Amino acid sequence: MQQTQYDEKTQKELIDLTRKLLTLKNVPDDKSEAEKLAEQLRKVIKFHDWRYYILNDPIISDYEYDQLFKLLKRIEEKYPDLITPDSPTQRVASDITKEFPEVEHLTPMLSLENSYSPEDLRAWARRIYEIVGQNVSFCVEPKYDGAGIALVYENDLLVRGATRGDGIKGEDITPNIKTIKTIPLKAEFSKKGIKRAEVRGEVVISKEHFKKMNEEREKAGLTPLANPRNAAAGSLRLQDPKEVAKRPLVAVVYQLSYAENEKGESMLGTIIKTHYEAVGILHELGFFTPYPEMKVFDNIEDVIAYCQEWERKREEYPYEVDGMVIKVNELYLYDKLGFTSHHPRWAIAYKFKANQATTIIKDVVFQVGRTGIVTPVAKLEPVQVGGVVVSSVSLFNEDFIRQKDIRIGDLVLVERAGEVIPYIVKVIKEARTGNEKPIEFPKTCPSCGSPLVKEPGEAFWRCINANCPAQVVERIIHFASRDAMDIEGLGEQTVRRFYKAGILKTIPDIYRMDYERIMRLPGFGPKSAQNLQKAVEESKHRDLDRLIYALGIPNVGKVTAKMLAQQVNDIFEFFDWKVEDYMKLPDIGPKVAKSIYDFFHNESNRNMIKELAELGVNVKRLSQEEEKPKEGPFSGHVVVFTGELDCCSRRQASKLVEELGGKVANSVSRKVTLLVVGKNPGSKLRKAQQLGIKTIDEQEFLNMAGKK
Ligand code: IVH
Repeated sequence: MQQTQYDEKTQKELIDLTRKLLTLKNVPDDKSEAEKLAEQLRKVIKFHDWRYYILNDPIISDYEYDQLFKLLKRIEEKYPDLITPDSPTQRVASDITKEFPEVEHLTPMLSLENSYSPEDLRAWARRIYEIVGQNVSFCVEPKYDGAGIALVYENDLLVRGATRGDGIKGEDITPNIKTIKTIPLKAEFSKKGIKRAEVRGEVVISKEHFKKMNEEREKAGLTPLANPRNAAAGSLRLQDPKEVAKRPLVAVVYQLSYAENEKGESMLGTIIKTHYEAVGILHELGFFTPYPEMKVFDNIEDVIAYCQEWERKREEYPYEVDGMVIKVNELYLYDKLGFTSHHPRWAIAYKFKANQATTIIKDVVFQVGRTGIVTPVAKLEPVQVGGVVVSSVSLFNEDFIRQKDIRIGDLVLVERAGEVIPYIVKVIKEARTGNEKPIEFPKTCPSCGSPLVKEPGEAFWRCINANCPAQVVERIIHFASRDAMDIEGLGEQTVRRFYKAGILKTIPDIYRMDYERIMRLPGFGPKSAQNLQKAVEESKHRDLDRLIYALGIPNVGKVTAKMLAQQVNDIFEFFDWKVEDYMKLPDIGPKVAKSIYDFFHNESNRNMIKELAELGVNVKRLSQEEEKPKEGPFSGHVVVFTGELDCCSRRQASKLVEELGGKVANSVSRKVTLLVVGKNPGSKLRKAQQLGIKTIDEQEFLNMAGKK
């Protein structure tokens, strides 16, 4: 990097310029204008390289960066004499800092060209056909969002592990690499006649581990990390390998980039003919690879369909995937296809809709939840993130706002990673104008005006007025929700409306609603009122665990509610329980025990439960007889579904299994006895196969259920 420092004022100017340039789509027809634009693009791209590679703190999304880069490339393609030797298009950027020794890669570690649409992919394929003058096949695999690595094996032993660096030279992080359990320290390459090999891959953290890491951070009073990629990249470059070993890192290996036999001859394209075969070998040698997810196609339309299929189901996959990589399968064509200055021509990335974007905080509102916790929520200038429009985002608590120094009017980077809710990664402080307003946390409840309270050691401010209207509404919404009493037709909006109209003031009011009146409300009619009444009646017969969950006892989720329901014959028994009684139960600590005790010892809660019972709501545990599993073709089976079914929804299929004596689980474990594989199955299939679990297709499932 030539320029290593940018002062605040310059940064601000460059951000303004970036935003202006991002609105441009076309190369100007006028050459002198094009020249001016190219200069501006170079200036901002260099600045963003610096933010990304040196500060490790990018302030635009990859997508936005690519837009800038592509526009510059298009100008230079149209006017080649405008190319300058120091143009960012003429170099490969580097992530090298000076903390680890430098090593040269066996073959350059280039990045991939990005594409964002089926048309981009078709154009890429056309270019390939033109160059090689023959048909080719394409291998498609997930693009993992983590930190790139290159591993060298000699005589079956891992001798080196390095980061990507500038693509030519990387950082030698062998001691850290050796702590990653999915990387074999010894792999029998010799069995395949390979004496020396280099493999490429990506170090990642699963979404599940990432979630856990963040939960632990939150418990420790730290604010959550933005995404699994940052968590992985940060872990890899820790100075102490012992610390690295504690992180749940996984290395996915997706390329055999070099393979040499005893005679020192390259085996790629000669003995090992295809990319698919190469990854198959790595898989067999014990590496963790995308082999089970990889597919080979002989035309680009099928490739596009597979990419789109993945875009739809990426959320289900255990690792963060930001796109797909399409590689020409025939390795012998790689030399002929060659490289551009940045990318191999034999591969391209198909990027999914970006899950990061920058936008402005217009306002901050404070929402009161059903337990009285006051959550600050930022209202955003609506922006597309990962395929959905995001217009508000939680700021969690006061500490989060202080740590990130978030102000109204700020330009912020928003991310939606995996199933994680939208998250403010950071404030782009350099874009500040001085007109941003600090966020004032209220001292009193925005709904009822009572003073807010903060317990020592807690991060939240709470409204402790049990009759606070905002809390009451949220409690009714929760009570009627799908996982609780599951009252169809009594969703969030309807509850709010009924509360305003005075139809619902408390939870028991649900069972005393005036349907004559509801029928006459705009948007309702005899039919919908009748349906609602039916749904309300049905909800009186829910199992006790649903009722316990529906009551919204602080710190009691579905799992705890189920366990609690098994301890008693009816809910009134809890009125006499002591804190110690709860403490004896599995997984209940003093905090949860106290919270359940307080709930059942509160006079108005007790009255509410009595009222519900009088109104006919079931408060009893189902008798042993009813609880006994039903008999049927699925008796003794624990069933998991993966992929889409034609016959019915997942929910209906699960119900069928339960009615026919079986149990349904969400994820594959050793307890599972049967995996039903629908169309486009996810990673559960792979796991089930590894565990030797029986799999059946939809037809076999229906046969078993006696449906067809
Ligand atoms: S192939 C020369 N395959 O994405 C091409 N890369 O944006 C070698 N990546 O630098 C890379 N998943 O760090 C390839 N299945 C995959 C990948 C993958 C993730 C990363 C890799 C690369 C970057 C390019």
